[in-house]
Amino acid sequence: MSKKTIVVVGASRGIGKALVEFFAASADHQVIALSRDLEKMEDNFQGYSNVVSFPFDLLHNVQSEAKTIFEGIGSIDILINNAGKLVNKPFPEITHRDLTDCYQVNVIGVMETVQAAVPQMLGGGHIVNISSMGGFQGSMKFAGLSAYSTSKAALCSFTELFAEEYKESKIKMNCLCLGAAQTEMLEEAFPGYQAPVSAEKMAEFIANFALTGDQWINGKIIPVSLSTP
Ligand SMILES: NC(=O)c1ccc[n+]([C@@H]2O[C@H](COP(=O)([O-])OP(=O)(O)OC[C@H]3O[C@@H](n4cnc5c(N)ncnc54)[C@H](OP(=O)(O)O)[C@@H]3O)[C@@H](O)[C@H]2O)c1
Repeated sequence: MSKKTIVVVGASRGIGKALVEFFAASADHQVIALSRDLEKMEDNFQGYSNVVSFPFDLLHNVQSEAKTIFEGIGSIDILINNAGKLVNKPFPEITHRDLTDCYQVNVIGVMETVQAAVPQMLGGGHIVNISSMGGFQGSMKFAGLSAYSTSKAALCSFTELFAEEYKESKIKMNCLCLGAAQTEMLEEAFPGYQAPVSAEKMAEFIANFALTGDQWINGKIIPVSLSTP
């Protein structure tokens, strides 16, 4: 497989950490790991000489911060928008801040990150947005997840709109709606639930899709789920 430059947003734990480790196991790839916790990422990935970590916060100055990081990298082949913010609260208790932070991280920050990445991907690239079965139209819905799941639905919609606007370009974008994978976020959403899929197995699927799926698929919203939730 040819050498790729791959950016993973939300790389400090869970599926994002596993994604970085999967890609980095192939010494050919250059992997850029982004999250708010630089120390944790440097600790996670100290064994890999092909991983560079940068602090990155989807809540603040995303357009300018992402532009600076991406211009420093040069050309990008794959961008995986994996970071996510969960709000799990009864609807009447959801604050304005819960809503704005959830939408900033899960939707607006992703769109701003993509704006910054596009100039570095004009030679061709695949952007993979990580949504949720909760945001997949017609799926089973769960109490407490109205902020989170509506934001993930917006991310699905963005995928279709971006692909339409960039259909004459060499940039492809797809959206994977994940079912349960065993991570800290899953434990916060569904305490005590045992997922049938580990973070590592989910990451393996996402990574292989990111590397090859854009040859056949663009602008699609794809469920990736063995279970409910
Ligand atoms: N696990 C599941 O069952 C499941 C199911 C459906 C969808 N998903 C989606 O899959 C993705 C990964 O989930 P996960 O379970 O691995 O979640 P996780 O364990 O909570 O990890 C989330 C990652 O996002 C990063 N992040 C959160 N807020 C951020 C911010 N403001 N700026 C930058 N990075 C931020 C976190 O890093 P820092 O805190 O260091 O910034 C962390 O690395 C998410 O988008 C999630 O919604 C997961």
